[in-house]
Amino acid sequence: MEIRVPDDGGDELTLISFNGRKYPMFPATALETLPSVEMRSDDILVCAFPKSGTHWIWEMTRLLVAGKLDRDDISKGTAMMEFINEDEYKDLPSPRVLNTHLLFRELPKQVKEKKPRILYVTRNPKDVTVSFYNFVKKLPMFYKYSGEWKNFVRPSLEGRFDYGSWFDYVKDWEEVKKTTDVPILTLNYEDMKEDVFREVKKIRDFLGTDRSDEFVKEVCDHCSFGSMKDIKANFSEIVYRKGEIGDWKNWFTVAQNEWFDKLYEEKMKDCPLTFRYTLK
Ligand code: A3P
Repeated sequence: MEIRVPDDGGDELTLISFNGRKYPMFPATALETLPSVEMRSDDILVCAFPKSGTHWIWEMTRLLVAGKLDRDDISKGTAMMEFINEDEYKDLPSPRVLNTHLLFRELPKQVKEKKPRILYVTRNPKDVTVSFYNFVKKLPMFYKYSGEWKNFVRPSLEGRFDYGSWFDYVKDWEEVKKTTDVPILTLNYEDMKEDVFREVKKIRDFLGTDRSDEFVKEVCDHCSFGSMKDIKANFSEIVYRKGEIGDWKNWFTVAQNEWFDKLYEEKMKDCPLTFRYTLK
């Protein structure tokens, strides 16, 4: 069902509501049929809250698995489970590299049985919120939103928009990691920015792909921000905005920052997760 959700200034985002959760304006059929999607044990799932670096990790994983580089303007949307119908990815050769912003419990039922490998990606919530605001503004056909940053921050971090609250998302995954036997490798955007080669070697080892350090290095270089912005021409302006740590400083006012710190303390009091907001 289509809904319009107001920000703090009354400007509205157009979203869909499905099973009590909010999503972007995706065709509802993918969400409806998702629980019964057939999984394979060699599937690889990139799971991240929106704007955490999903495109980056998905592309590097896709190339690692392929074992060769390409300059195809292929989008991660072609393997996004809540966006496209199963028909569009069911015949892809193994191992399939799929991606989603859903919670673990929203994934296909067969995930628990087939145990695909999950690459779970996090990013500091201030930069996520800035990235999300800019993304929403660049898709007027989709979100139909023309609001201002000052009215966006609070409802966004309080979870009123699509995919809900960043806090709920990361806390849920922390709980899942304690209990599930589905293999999960946690990656972090700030760590990737600090040393992408180190982090992609972790992906290679976790996936057990037999790729040399030299090839891993080539993948990292090939997927630098500038290179992906160039190759992915269709989404260049929408997705590949700045690719930095700490752009939030150009957006958050002192008051917003103080409000955020209090919110973080309150929401994360039982969760020891910490994030880096600058790269020293
Ligand atoms: P910014 O808006 O801060 O620039 P997602 O892929 O989950 O939608 O996340 C998008 C964010 O990841 C954007 O952040 C985008 O610029 C950044 N990003 C995409 N590719 C990147 C890359 N190769 N290196 C660094 N950041 C990248």
